[in-house]
Amino acid sequence: MADVSLVDISKRFGAVEAVRNLSLSIADGEFVVLLGPTGAGKTTTLRLIAGLERPDRGIVVIRGRDVTREVPADRDVAFVFQQYSLYPHLTVYDNLAFPLRSPAHRTDESLIRRRVQHVAELLHIEQKLGNRATALSGGEMQRVAIGRALVREPAVYLMDEPLSSLDAKLRAELRLELKRIQRELGTTILYVTHDQIEAMTMADRIGVMNEGELIQLGTPRDIYERPESAYVASRLGMPTINLVPAEALAGQSPPEARTAGLRTEHIRIFPPYHPGPRARVYLVEHLGDQNHVHLRLDAHSLVTLADPAQELKAGDEVSLEFREPLYFDQRGNRIVTQRRPA
Ligand SMILES: Nc1ncnc2c1ncn2[C@@H]1O[C@H](COP(=O)(O)OP(=O)(O)O)[C@@H](O)[C@H]1O
Ligand SMILES: [Mg+2]
Repeated sequence: MADVSLVDISKRFGAVEAVRNLSLSIADGEFVVLLGPTGAGKTTTLRLIAGLERPDRGIVVIRGRDVTREVPADRDVAFVFQQYSLYPHLTVYDNLAFPLRSPAHRTDESLIRRRVQHVAELLHIEQKLGNRATALSGGEMQRVAIGRALVREPAVYLMDEPLSSLDAKLRAELRLELKRIQRELGTTILYVTHDQIEAMTMADRIGVMNEGELIQLGTPRDIYERPESAYVASRLGMPTINLVPAEALAGQSPPEARTAGLRTEHIRIFPPYHPGPRARVYLVEHLGDQNHVHLRLDAHSLVTLADPAQELKAGDEVSLEFREPLYFDQRGNRIVTQRRPA
C-alpha cells in the first residue's frame, strides 16, 4: 500500500472543465471519499489516477513516483467500477483469480488459491466459488467485483460508486464490510460516491467536489460541523440543513450574516407560551423512531426531526429556539462565530 498525490490537476473535455486545479494527498492506509453530485468530476479524478485519462496540467504521484506519463498497467492501482464487470461464463473462483493470472503477474496456482480463498472469506462468498457469475444475485456479483480488486495488493484501490446499483439493505451491509476489510488489511482507498451516508460512515476524510473542484477536504466531523460554505453544509445531514435568511432569526444573527443554516440539532420546539419565534406545524411524517416535522416560520419552511413522544400535529402553533446555528455571508461562506460556553 502507498500514498497517492494529485498536484494541481486539470482535465478538460472540449468546453467542459471536468477537473480543475485539483490537489489531494491520500496517506498510506487512508480511506478518502470524494463526495459530489453527478458531473462533479469524481469519475474523471479516478480515471486520471488510474491512467485511463491524461491530465492537461498537473502530476499524479503514487508511492513517491511521478506516474503522470505511465500507462495504467504500470501504475499499480485496482479499479472497481460502478457496474460489475464480471466474466459471465467463468466461475466465481475464476473471476477472482483472473487478475492474478495475467501474464504481467505470473502468480503460481497455489498462491492464487490462497488469495482467492482469503478474499472470498472476507466478502462472505466462499460458498459461491463454484457458481457461474451469471448464477449470482446482484449483491453477490458486486462482492465478486470488489473481490477481484482485493485479490491484488496494489498501491491504491480506486472505487467508483461500487454500491450504487444495490438495494438499501445490501448497500448498508457492504458498506460495513468494506470499512472492516479496509481496517483489517490497512489498504489505501479512494472511493467515489454521491451518497452522504457512505461518505460519513466509511471515510477517514471526505473531499467534497462540485463542478470539477475539490471545495473542502476534512474528517466527516469537520465537514459536518465546520463546513466552509452553505453548499458544503447542504451536502451532509438528513434532513438537509434549512437555509433561511438571517433576519428570520429575529436579531440573533451576527450583522454580516446573510443566511442562517439550521440543522435538526439547532432547532428546539417548545409549546407556544415559551418565548421565542413562533412557527406553525404544517406536516408531521411518522418515521417510526422519529418524526419529520415540517414547520412554517413566517414565509419560510423548516424541516426537522422530533421525538415522537413530543406530540405534534399539523396546525399546532409552537415556539422555536435556535441553538448555535451556522451562519453564512453573502458569498455563502461560513462565518466563524465564537462558540457559547456549554
Ligand atoms: N470522455 C468524456 N468526454 C466528454 N465529456 C466528459 C467525458 N468524461 C467526463 N466528461 C464530462 O466531465 C464532467 C465530469 O464528469 P465525471 O467525472 O464523470 O463526473 P462524476 O463522476 O462526478 O459524475 C461532466 O460534465 C461530464 O459530462
Ligand atoms: Mg461518475
